[in-house]
Amino acid sequence: MKKQIKAPLFETLLSHAKRDVVSFHTPGHKNGRSIDSKLKSFTGEDVYSFDVTVFPEVDSLHDPTGPIKKAQELMAQAYGVKNSFFLVNGSSQGNIAMFMAACDPGDSVIISRSSHKSIMSGVILSGVWPIWIQPKIDQNLDIIFNSSADEIKDALDKFPEAKAVFVTSPTYNGVTMDLFKIAELCHSRGKILLVDEAHGPHLKFHQDLPVSAVEAGADLCVQSTHKILSAMSQGSVLHFNSDLIDFNRVRKIVSLLQTTSPNYLVLASIDLARRQAFVQGEAMLEKVMQAADYGRKKINQLGKFTCFTRQHIMSLGYDLDPTKLTINVTRTGFSGYQIEDILAKEYNVQVDCADIFNVIAIMGMGSDKSDVNALVDALEEIEDKYQGQQQNWILQIPSLSTEMVMMPRDVYFAAKTKRVPLSKAVGYISAQTLTPYPPGIPVLIPGERITKEISDYLTDMSAKDIRVSGQETETLRTLKVVVT
Ligand SMILES: Cc1ncc(COP(=O)(O)O)c(C=O)c1O
Repeated sequence: MKKQIKAPLFETLLSHAKRDVVSFHTPGHKNGRSIDSKLKSFTGEDVYSFDVTVFPEVDSLHDPTGPIKKAQELMAQAYGVKNSFFLVNGSSQGNIAMFMAACDPGDSVIISRSSHKSIMSGVILSGVWPIWIQPKIDQNLDIIFNSSADEIKDALDKFPEAKAVFVTSPTYNGVTMDLFKIAELCHSRGKILLVDEAHGPHLKFHQDLPVSAVEAGADLCVQSTHKILSAMSQGSVLHFNSDLIDFNRVRKIVSLLQTTSPNYLVLASIDLARRQAFVQGEAMLEKVMQAADYGRKKINQLGKFTCFTRQHIMSLGYDLDPTKLTINVTRTGFSGYQIEDILAKEYNVQVDCADIFNVIAIMGMGSDKSDVNALVDALEEIEDKYQGQQQNWILQIPSLSTEMVMMPRDVYFAAKTKRVPLSKAVGYISAQTLTPYPPGIPVLIPGERITKEISDYLTDMSAKDIRVSGQETETLRTLKVVVT
């Protein structure tokens, strides 16, 4: 594995930059010469000489034969898969590619209803029929769990026509599924397993972390190398490790979805993130995990904040990536959004995201104990300084049954639509996705029949002035529906 010390794309770009080549190629800033001076004085000049275009020396992302090919081969070797593709539009691109590469229009796919929004893009662009399975709510922890392996088995029994299963593991909270079991369930029936592992590019590199999708046997898996490892934003990887999917089709689909002007700095950062993870990952992640454990312990010693542990999640049949800290704030009397705001504005601590119940602090290769101390100190001070009011918020999923009567793609691209008052929408087919937060699970998806209970539920949201993601007007008094 001596080869893993190399970073072929980075090394090529570096040697190109050192030659100070006269640029008659895009981009127009010409090695940074015409970049805005304020930006340049902030960033330094050198970085712009990495911003090149496709030419033989630096290789092409679409048809790699040189350093990009070598870098992708090293990536595949590091993860133990057949092939890896560098992506410059994040795991969002990878999720869409997985649907389009693994499925034909009209195929059906089992998918958890609580998935990232790019999954809906994948469903629409690939033309598959989604078979939704409902996630579960944990009202003690105030988080959502994806379906268990047993529930996926039930779905496979019930829908033997499904061509593939699409799962998200880890979730935003770091909760992972029993992927070995799920891969076994899928492959024993000839079904494809697709995994959104956007939050798990590091799992492979420390033995104490939960099992990764590549180890468990996913056919395709996407990882945001930029989320936890050290790649720059937009840098992701799609891993191919399948006997069920045509490799050439994956290659063509990835190319179809990729810009012809990728940012080589992003590509080089993916190359280097792989090298770092392979060479130093175990040691670096050990420190990150220790800092996270320390933070979790400290937070749980505070009076009003709690942070669930890996043991607890394991007792529920899942596993936890301990580098993610989900901090429950309900005892403060403030929402997670309010605590996020206070942390950012008063303490210069920016968490990754928040919901009503929690703030989620994501650690990465660059995190250290001093960051954790800053977070813990801020939370301690917030506890003393602020008095919220006891709230009665409860995380729940409305028990609404849904019926998919048109393919989302047909609704999105072909169907004529109109707006009708919510009160008159019953019986129509929805032409929009509507997702109330919490719990962040869509109530309606394009192609689903609007039932009386869904209309009543949305009317209640509208009466309470609760904004629903996907509503296209200021108030939720009308719905976009298919004209039949
Ligand atoms: C579970 C999940 N999947 C996919 C994505 C999309 O990843 P990216 O931002 O790399 O496009 C995200 C982004 O937050 C995510 O949380």
